Amino acid sequence: GLVPIILSGGKGTRLWPVSRELHPKPFIRLADGESFLQKAYRRAIGLDGVSRVITVTNRLLSFKTMDEYRALGLSEIECGMILEPVGRNTAPAFAAAAATVSRRFGPQEVLLFLTADHLIEDIPAFTQAVEQAVRLAESGRIVTFGIRPDAPETGYGYIEASGSDVLRFVEKPTQERAQEFLASGRYLWNSGMFCVRADVAEAELKLHAADVWQFAEQSAASARVLEGRHEWQVMLDEAAFALAPDISVDHALMEKTERASVVPCDIGWSDIGSWAAFGELFPKDGDGNRIDGDVIAVDTVNCYVHSDARVVGTVGLKDLVIVDTPDALLVAHRDNLQDIKQVVARLKQRG
Ligand code: GDD
Ligand code: MG
Repeated sequence: GLVPIILSGGKGTRLWPVSRELHPKPFIRLADGESFLQKAYRRAIGLDGVSRVITVTNRLLSFKTMDEYRALGLSEIECGMILEPVGRNTAPAFAAAAATVSRRFGPQEVLLFLTADHLIEDIPAFTQAVEQAVRLAESGRIVTFGIRPDAPETGYGYIEASGSDVLRFVEKPTQERAQEFLASGRYLWNSGMFCVRADVAEAELKLHAADVWQFAEQSAASARVLEGRHEWQVMLDEAAFALAPDISVDHALMEKTERASVVPCDIGWSDIGSWAAFGELFPKDGDGNRIDGDVIAVDTVNCYVHSDARVVGTVGLKDLVIVDTPDALLVAHRDNLQDIKQVVARLKQRG
């Protein structure tokens, strides 16, 4: 069968201060009131033949995650949670999920790894792409979903593709290489979703990231398991999981494997990786502002202003991003949004 696995976590520092360690990007609510995570869950259960959805997340986020799903009221779906004692990036999460599924349901299950921080607008096209991916995965491939690039983004993986063959996978290239890739017309963006048989994931991880597999598998083997009627939780063993290297699945596996395939697809995918992109989800007012919350904007042009609770007044501003939350306020220039992570880094140093 097909088992969707939602990877939910990450730092999401570019969307600080709404995105925090204990409130990462998947929990951010969009204009329609649904979070990225809820949207990911809906996409997963909407696929044909899906009777269970597994989420891999930090154990500190497990209740919050269940609350998001329960709010959708979809109880006939089996809900599996694989809980990480510490964040080790996506490769150990991916490996622990493959190991857990193999143990519980068998090594032939097809895993569909889904991100919890994207929007996908064209669900029928997504469904079709998944069908193609499943066929390729069943034949032993590790399948990526390729998005036609329209800018030299450096935050994505790039796939050199010829039909469904992956010639090369380059994770987060430099600006220069990203420009070359875009200009060549031969590259697609990696969407961050993967489809692979559990036994193939195991074999390829053993080959290319043996330590990731070893510690993730151990942590799944000695996990504490709670079984409910429609729910189960696998608490990965901390001693083993903590030994897994902190590395993404893109670096650990996708750049190395020779079994990668790609399904090029046009699914209305967007990553919403910055406040500018987030702002674009809100309608523009006559002065080019995008407003989310209780805001009074006077002589304000081309700004994004977000307020969680308080009234925010702005006067005589241009090209700024202002994000007000109960315990932190961001004021940034539009051109410098990539540097918000520096604020987060300094905040971390202060401990
Ligand atoms: N469980 C778990 N644990 N999930 C995690 C962790 C972790 O430690 N770290 C990240 N995630 C989740 C995120 O919530 C997201 O859903 C997904 O895994 C991808 O992680 P990101 O940290 O957002 O990766 P990225 O955006 O830098 O890069 C990936 O996505 C790009 C597309 O947006 C890569 O796959 C790129 O190649 C790709 O282009
Ligand atoms: Mg991401």
